[in-house]
Amino acid sequence: MVTSMKGKHFLTLADFTREELEFMLDTAKMLKERYLAGERIIPILRGRHLALLFEKPSTRTRISFETAMLELGGDALYLNWRDLQLGRGETIEDTARVLSRYVDGIMARVYEHEKLVKLAQYSRVPVINGLSDLLHPAQALTDIYTIMEKKGTDLRKLKIVFVGDGRDNVLHSLMLGIGILGGKIIIASPEGYEPDPKVVKMFEETAAPNGGEYEIIRDPVEAVKGADVVYTDVWVSMGQESIKEKKIRDLSPYQVNKELMSYAKPDAIFMHCLPAHRGQEVTDEVIDGKWSVVWDQAENRKHVQKAILALLIP
Ligand code: CP
Ligand code: NVA
Repeated sequence: MVTSMKGKHFLTLADFTREELEFMLDTAKMLKERYLAGERIIPILRGRHLALLFEKPSTRTRISFETAMLELGGDALYLNWRDLQLGRGETIEDTARVLSRYVDGIMARVYEHEKLVKLAQYSRVPVINGLSDLLHPAQALTDIYTIMEKKGTDLRKLKIVFVGDGRDNVLHSLMLGIGILGGKIIIASPEGYEPDPKVVKMFEETAAPNGGEYEIIRDPVEAVKGADVVYTDVWVSMGQESIKEKKIRDLSPYQVNKELMSYAKPDAIFMHCLPAHRGQEVTDEVIDGKWSVVWDQAENRKHVQKAILALLIP
């Protein structure tokens, strides 16, 4: 039995039980089916306002949350961090106190994850993580939805491989989500690119008790052999520009190209949260090839973000 999640923050998937994550995924499926059947507006959040607060750029997160909120009958306000008094030094605490007296939910994208924690601490309304340096849970929940849509709901039957930076924010959330649901993720990364210890701790506390596992394999070919799902993300995330050259050098043996995909199962899918740096972490022939489900993955953001809003916004 899942009790109401109304009013809960969505900072990390580790704050949710397996049953709650399954309920969000089921809700997303129902909302997508109704949308595809022509029911474009399901006005359960009529009169509610969602603030979309961005310290970094966004295409998918901004547009999927904004359209999701409108299709649930509410409205959304795009707020650029620099345009608010935040940009002139008003504190996050005071901003959270004020903003949460105007709106019913705050989705925020920040550089340092700690800023989200602070926002949540001082907000009266749910704060939803729209990406931080540490985590990207709304993306990962959507990715799990897409994996289940394409490959079936029993994650334990699937070989899911993430190739690239083992400290990537999307990978961290995938690890937690897949793990809490009892599945396993294989991480193909070089030495020095292991998951952040904070995430490993969350994993040990929340995923491991459900049978969740992760394994690091250094050799990308070994890791991808027999894979059902091959996932990658950019090598240089937003905010990491100063270490760009080193990361590109270290991660270049981990490019997902046609040769690497030839070791996966013939019906394997290729996933990427986007935006992609074509020619770096993935080649055109893969992202535009038969394996790629990246556009469905992007489309699903709206349906899954809708489920998060419908279940969390009071
Ligand atoms: N995948 C993702 O979050 O994309 P945006 O940066 O465009 O929001
Ligand atoms: N890891 C990337 C994801 C972008 C959606 C970044 O943080 O820039």
